[in-house]
Order: sequence, then structure tokens, then C-alpha cells
Amino acid sequence: MARACNGAGFVIAAMRFGGCAAVLLVAVYLSAPAGATGTAGARTQALDAANSLPAGVDNPQRAWQHWALNCQGCHRPDGTGSAATAPSLAGTAARFLSVPGGREYLGRVPGVAASPLSNVELSEVMNWMLWRFDKEHLPANFQPFTAEEVGRLRAAPLRLEASQLRTELLRKADESEAP
Ligand code: HEC
Repeated sequence: MARACNGAGFVIAAMRFGGCAAVLLVAVYLSAPAGATGTAGARTQALDAANSLPAGVDNPQRAWQHWALNCQGCHRPDGTGSAATAPSLAGTAARFLSVPGGREYLGRVPGVAASPLSNVELSEVMNWMLWRFDKEHLPANFQPFTAEEVGRLRAAPLRLEASQLRTELLRKADESEAP
């Protein structure tokens, strides 16, 4: 019997009958919608818990692509900007969230407000950008931007006054962060 089991004939027979059936059963089990969704949902929650998925970002890959196509031309891929194009977001963008008017500023700044992205896409990019480039300044109680909020803010875009408002807000942030 042992010899027969190890023989090629047995293996082929097992593949054709028992083996294949077993493989098929496993495949059906794994692709069952309830099982698959449950596993993915549990994984997402685990990532959220480990702070790996930024709040308000359903799809980081998509957010990054929107950033690459719509924002990084001025802000550079790593958010560091340049004197000639746009200020650095890296290590500073989320500081605006801790001063009155700063959150509104982020949604009304011209490059954001005039972006061709939809409100849903833009809110995801905003949440992704804050996490990606300045997570150290994200307040512990940070509420992610929603599409509705972004839509409301961008409807009142800043123009030339953006630069002056920016200076004032950063001065307030400096004061509130001073030891
Ligand atoms: C045409 C260049 C340009 C593009 C494109 C652009 N920005 Fe900006 N961004 C600026 C400039 C310049 C400022 C500084 C404020 C001002 O004077 O407009 C700024 C400011 C900001 C700020 C406020 C932070 C600060 O330090 O002032 C955020 C947040 C921001 N941009 C995010 C984005 C996002 C997200 C996109 C893509 C959807 C984007 N920007 C596209 C030029 C740009």
C-alpha cells in the first residue's frame, strides 16, 4: 500500500479525483463572498488600529495618484515645494489645524480650491496629504475632511490674500507651539 501511495499512478489518480476535488473545495471556500469580505474588513480595521491607514482615506494608492497628477507639480512629489512654486507641506501642513481659521485656510487655498478633482477625491487627497507629509502635527482628535466640507470651503476660494493669511496663521501656530 505504501509503495502504491508513493507511486506516480496514485498521485495522478489523486490529482484527477480526490486532489482536484479538494483543491476546488478550498478555492470555493476562499472565494465565498461572506468569507472574503469578512477577512478584508477585519484586515482594514486592523490597519486602522495600527494607524497604517490615514483617517478619511479609503484608498491611499488612489489619493497618491491624484496628488501626483494635480498637486506635486507645484509642491514636488515629497511635498517639500520650492521657493519658486509652492511652500513646503512637509512638516508644516497640519500645523494649520491647531489655529482658528487654519482648517478653513487649507480648503480655500487657491491650489486646493481650484483643483479639477471632485469634492470626494479632493477630501481624500487632503486627508492623505496631511498624514503623508505632516502626521507629527496631526491633532489627536483630528476629524478628517469630508467631501461636503471641502465643497463648502472651496466655494469661497482665497485669492491674493492667501499669502498674507498664511503668514498670520503660521505666526499664531508658532505662538501656540512656543514652550
Ligand atoms: C499652481 C501651483 C499649485 C498647485 C497645482 C497646488 N498648489 Fe498648493 N499651494 C500653492 C501655493 C503657492 C501655496 C501657498 C498659498 C498661496 O499663496 O496660494 C499653496 C498652499 C497649499 C496648502 C496650504 C499650506 C501652506 O503652507 O500654505 C495646502 C494644504 C496645499 N497647497 C495643498 C495642495 C493640494 C492638495 C494640491 C492639489 C490638489 C495643491 N496644493 C496644488 C501652489 C499650488
